Amino acid sequence: MIADMILTGGIVVDDRSQTRADVAIKDGHILAVGAPEAMPDARERVDVTGLHLLPGAIDVHVHFREPGYTHKEDWQTGTDAAAMGGVTTVFEMPNTHPPTRSVVELRQKQELARKARVDFGLYGLMAEDNIGELEALAEAGANAFKCFMGNTFGNLPSPSTGAMLEGFEIAAKLGLRVSLHAETWSIMAWRQKRLEAAGIHHPLAHIAARPEIVAIEAVGRAAALAEWTGARIHVLHISSAGELVPLAEAKRRGVDITGETCPCYLMLDSSDYARLGSVIRVNPPVREARDSAAIWEALASGVVDMIATDHAPHTPEEKQRDNIWQADCGFPGVETQMPLMLTAVAEGRITLEQYVRMSAVAPARAFGLWPMKGRIAPGAHADIAAVDLTRRETIAAQNLHSRGKITPFEGVETTGAPVHTLVRGRFVQRDRKLVPNMAGHGRQVTDIQQMPAAAPRNTDQSLAAILGQKG
Ligand code: DOR
Ligand code: ZN
Repeated sequence: MIADMILTGGIVVDDRSQTRADVAIKDGHILAVGAPEAMPDARERVDVTGLHLLPGAIDVHVHFREPGYTHKEDWQTGTDAAAMGGVTTVFEMPNTHPPTRSVVELRQKQELARKARVDFGLYGLMAEDNIGELEALAEAGANAFKCFMGNTFGNLPSPSTGAMLEGFEIAAKLGLRVSLHAETWSIMAWRQKRLEAAGIHHPLAHIAARPEIVAIEAVGRAAALAEWTGARIHVLHISSAGELVPLAEAKRRGVDITGETCPCYLMLDSSDYARLGSVIRVNPPVREARDSAAIWEALASGVVDMIATDHAPHTPEEKQRDNIWQADCGFPGVETQMPLMLTAVAEGRITLEQYVRMSAVAPARAFGLWPMKGRIAPGAHADIAAVDLTRRETIAAQNLHSRGKITPFEGVETTGAPVHTLVRGRFVQRDRKLVPNMAGHGRQVTDIQQMPAAAPRNTDQSLAAILGQKG
């Protein structure tokens, strides 16, 4: 058999080891990994000597804003940024306008996403008023559900615990994971109202409105509902030491729960608010240095499973407002995650193998993409980030490919960057430049997603069972 391409001279990295090996690619898949003499013939050879070949990052938390907010981002700019950041698959969030709450909106988004440069999954919304749509959303190709326990950009009201419980019952049967914005709305809305009424609007008040109990309560409650129903859940953007306790406890009890954190919760803390002002405003908030320290530890030990970005672009005007309550929350991240985390590798905070575990292996496993994604091995998709661990760059918003040209990491010097990105065997980024004509190469991962059977519990007490008996 003749391969389409062989990457020669690189070092292949997985979550346990680094191996000097060539990689043969055919029809978008990895054909062989091994010694040069074991490689088949190939139409093209690309020398990657000196580079480490990582499975492309899988970022299960991005907001690409289309439809509805394309002045902030769209599917082209968002996936351009992903390709520049070594990210080969993204899962995109439903708080667009209209939100992805039924099959109509899902289909609309699938159309818009045809210009994607990298592969993608789509979240369906799980809200108070669309519990009846979840099954149809799954059938139409939603890859997971997103439940906003706390209201954030897009003003989607958070569901009651009752609606969530029924949503979890349905998700458990469908087997899809439910990703949670785990901040309890009633607590933070109450506190923000009190702070605003008192005329307090400096940047640090954002933390005061959402102390870690907001997350602790939400994670604990969601874990109880997941345990009761057998639903698989994922805690998005872990920001506090406190919520690690219910997360770890739920894992010990056998709840199918995973967790992610994002670079801002690892690399920024409350001491950065004075310097960054409202630019640092994100939900949940960047907290204290002791929180970052605890999250680093939990990430290294695997209690926090993965790194994502909550890529949430807004314009500089929307971000920079004197009154903290008026500033939009979030900032772009899909392009800067890998350079920032590789810098942590260069500094010895984590190993490169740990990074592969948290950026590719864990998300692939949690969202059913394994074994087609998340590894460089025969049969898998050839999704590869070829990284130069010594490359030094300085983060500058103006150079980001996202439309959101503002970042709290402005001026940060990084060591390590993806110099090529391949999605299913094709270069989408090469030598730190976008490859022309590759917009539209991205595909939805629906065809490869295989969630192992879930174990629904208390099915006799589910609303569906009880309502069914009546009829
Ligand atoms: O800060 C945030 N911004 N947190 C979220 O959860 C949503 C995001 C957005 O969509 O802007
Ligand atoms: Zn988000």
